[in-house]
Amino acid sequence: MHIHVLGSAAGGGFPQWNCHCHNCKGLRNGSINAKARTQSSICISPDGENWVLFNTSPDILTQLAAFEPLQPSRQLRDTGISAIVFMDSQIDHTAGLLMLREGCPHQVYCTDMVYEDLTTGFPVFTMLTHWNGGVQRHAIPVVEELAPHKDSNGSFTIEQVPTLKFTAYPLLSKAPPYSPHRHNPHPGDNIGIQVEDTRTGKTLFYAPGLGQIEPHILEVMQKSDCLLVDGTFWREDEMAWSGVGAKTAAAMGHLPQSGPEGMLAVLASLPKKQRQILIHINNTNPILDEDSDECTEVECAGVEIAFDGMDITL
Ligand code: MLT
Ligand code: MN
Ligand code: ZN
Repeated sequence: MHIHVLGSAAGGGFPQWNCHCHNCKGLRNGSINAKARTQSSICISPDGENWVLFNTSPDILTQLAAFEPLQPSRQLRDTGISAIVFMDSQIDHTAGLLMLREGCPHQVYCTDMVYEDLTTGFPVFTMLTHWNGGVQRHAIPVVEELAPHKDSNGSFTIEQVPTLKFTAYPLLSKAPPYSPHRHNPHPGDNIGIQVEDTRTGKTLFYAPGLGQIEPHILEVMQKSDCLLVDGTFWREDEMAWSGVGAKTAAAMGHLPQSGPEGMLAVLASLPKKQRQILIHINNTNPILDEDSDECTEVECAGVEIAFDGMDITL
């Protein structure tokens, strides 16, 4: 399967329009060695023609302009996007759906919790009903408990890409700040998805927001050939450390890379033959500076840092 990284930054992108932090300032004035990044999204295809879009970033139009396979080529009105899967209802993962209104109806896959947010707190699905019926929603099922004994909630397929098998896993993370249930977590607020190419047996595990790695998630990570996982923060107190806010990584539903129980330590415990890639990187994260000690530490650990336009073939 083909995996293309459309956007590798967390909410706000890099540089963030109103941010004068070390990284954002440094990228603008050329004093650091770093790449600009748009907000978090990937797309996956078994054949290079029919693509499943994961998340619709506020930067979607820029991302489509940069990736020809998603552009119209076969008929007057056309797109390479066969279906859209939402990992959560965060603004950086959903706001771009409004920009795709001309292509309604879209085939959309999301959990009940995400559906609720996108029809209440941020009613983009409801608004879009006025554009050719809006979205045709397909439910991604999840189990009742937050920490299920079962290691998954069942797989699903998408008609246009029948050789791919998708399995969703509920994650301990956070519903968005605007969500009516922000402080009342439910399974399905955030999911990780394993995508298997049933022709080759190769698997990707994608989890751009991963606050805590429960045993059943660790198992899925162990069994995957490629990981694209939460790279938001280096430090637990990064917002305060960089002077831009007070929230901790945990409070935002993200596991930082550093520390004895951080993402790098988790990744180091996994099979080394798999590809391990950080994605959804916040603009405050020191790994964005390619000359930083933190970036070197990640690279020396054999972990990759996603960038916009990155192609992965599994
Ligand atoms: C997050 O995942 O926490 C978001 O990127 C934050 C945001 O969108 O501002
Ligand atoms: Mn985000
Ligand atoms: Zn910044």
